Amino acid sequence: MALGQRAPMERESLPSAEVTSLSHDGRGVARVDGKIVFIEDALPGERVRYRPGKRRRGFDTGTLVEILAPSPQRVAAKCRYFGVCGGCSLQHLDPRAQLNIKQDQLFENLNKIGKAEPDTLLAPLRGPCWGYRRKARLGVRFVPKKGGVLVGFRERRKSFVTPLQTCDVLDPRCATLLPSLTDVISELSCHDRIPQVEVAVGDNATALVFRHLQPLTDDDRGILGRWGMEHHVQVFLQPGDLNSVHPLSPRNPEPLHYHIDEFDVDIQFAATDFIQVNAEINCALIAEVARLLDPDANDRVLDLFCGLGNFTLPIARRAAEVTGYEANPVLIDKAKRNAQRNGCANTRFICADLDAEASGEVFADRKYDKLLLDPPRTGAMHVVKQLSQGQPRRIVYVSCNPATLARDTEVLVHVHRYRLTAAGVVDMFPHTQHVESIAVFERD
Ligand SMILES: C[S@@+](CC[C@H](N)C(=O)[O-])C[C@H]1O[C@@H](n2cnc3c(N)ncnc32)[C@H](O)[C@@H]1O
Repeated sequence: MALGQRAPMERESLPSAEVTSLSHDGRGVARVDGKIVFIEDALPGERVRYRPGKRRRGFDTGTLVEILAPSPQRVAAKCRYFGVCGGCSLQHLDPRAQLNIKQDQLFENLNKIGKAEPDTLLAPLRGPCWGYRRKARLGVRFVPKKGGVLVGFRERRKSFVTPLQTCDVLDPRCATLLPSLTDVISELSCHDRIPQVEVAVGDNATALVFRHLQPLTDDDRGILGRWGMEHHVQVFLQPGDLNSVHPLSPRNPEPLHYHIDEFDVDIQFAATDFIQVNAEINCALIAEVARLLDPDANDRVLDLFCGLGNFTLPIARRAAEVTGYEANPVLIDKAKRNAQRNGCANTRFICADLDAEASGEVFADRKYDKLLLDPPRTGAMHVVKQLSQGQPRRIVYVSCNPATLARDTEVLVHVHRYRLTAAGVVDMFPHTQHVESIAVFERD
C-alpha cells in the first residue's frame, strides 16, 4: 500500500518502524533506536515506512510513506479533506477502535498521573459518528492565489484555512451551507476583513455569527440579510468583542434552544455561548450523570462550572436543591432565566471564578451531599484542593482532558481519601483526538 509518489528505490531507503500507540494528538507513536518518533497517519499495530521530519531533543517526527503491515482496524477515511483539514485526526481508524484507544488513554492517565484505578469500568457512551457537531468556529481567509475566499477549519498543524465545500462531522443543517457561505462572503465588499464565522444549531434554528474587522456597507448588510432569509438561518454580526454581537436578520430572532427529553428541560442559548457540541451524546451524558449522582429528594447538589444550567436543571428535577457556580456572568444570567422557564425553583446560580485561590469558599456556605464537576480543559485543581473533609459524599467529574482529570484524581484519592469507584469514556467527538470522560468518587 504505497502512499507516496516517490520512486521505489528512494522509498526503500527510508526507515521503517513498528507503531505501538497513538499520541494525544492522533499521531502514531514508534520507538526507533530508543527515541520516540511521532508518525502522522500511522496507527497502533502497524509497521510503516516513514519520511523523517523534525528532530527534537526528546522526539522525532515523521510522515507516513508506506504501510508495510496495516492495522486490521484501519478504514478508508470518509471525508475528502481528511489529512489536510485539522478538524479530524482519526477518520482512518474504525470508530470502535477510536473509543477503545481513548479508553486506554483515560486509564493510563488515571494510573500514571492519578495513581488510581477505578473499581468499575463504565460502558462507553456512544452516539452518532457523523453529522454530530452542532457548534463550530469556521475560519475565513481571502487568498487570491487559491481562488479567493476560503471557509473551513484550520489545516493540520498549520494556520491556513482548509477550503471546505462539505464536512461530514458538522450537523448537516450547517454543513450544507458551506458552498453558499463561501459565495456570499466573496460577494461582500469586505470579503478580506471577515476572519471567522461561528455557527450554532439549535432544535429550532441555525445561527451564524459573522465577525467583521471593518464596518459593513448597506449593500453588504443587504447581501447577508437576504442570504440568511433564503437559507432560513439567523444572521448575526460581530464588529468587536462578544458583547458586540447583534442580529442582522431576522431583526428579532427566536432564541436558539435544545430540549433534554428525559428531564423535560429546555435550554435557551446564544450562538456564541458554550454548549456541549454533540446533542445526542449530551442527552445521554446528562442521563448518565444523573444515574451516577443518583440524587434523592433530600440531596443538596453542587454543580461547579455549570454554564447555562445544562446539568443543573435536569438534576434539579430529582434533587432537593442544586447550586450552580460559573465564572461567566452572561451564562449565569441565562442559567437563571432557563431555571425560571423550566420551573426549577430549587436552583441557585452564583457567579465566581473557581480558579481563584479562595474558590473553596463555595463549599463553606452550606453542606452539599453531592458534587458535579464539569471544568474546562485546565481542570478543577483549585476547587479540588480546597474540598474540606467530610463533604460531599459523592463526586461525579465530567472531563474533556484526561491529563487534568488524572491530576485532580491524585488529590481526591490520595489527599482527600475518596475512592475512584467508576470511570469511562464518552464519544462526544468522534474522529477527533479529544477524549471526554466521566469519573465517580465516593467517601464512606
Ligand atoms: C466544559 S464547560 C461546561 C459547561 C456546562 N456544565 C455545560 O454542560 O454546558 C466549562 C464551563 O466552565 C466555565 N469556566 C471556565 N473557567 C472557569 C473558572 N475559572 N471559574 C468558573 N467557571 C469557569 C466556562 O465558562 C464553561 O461554562
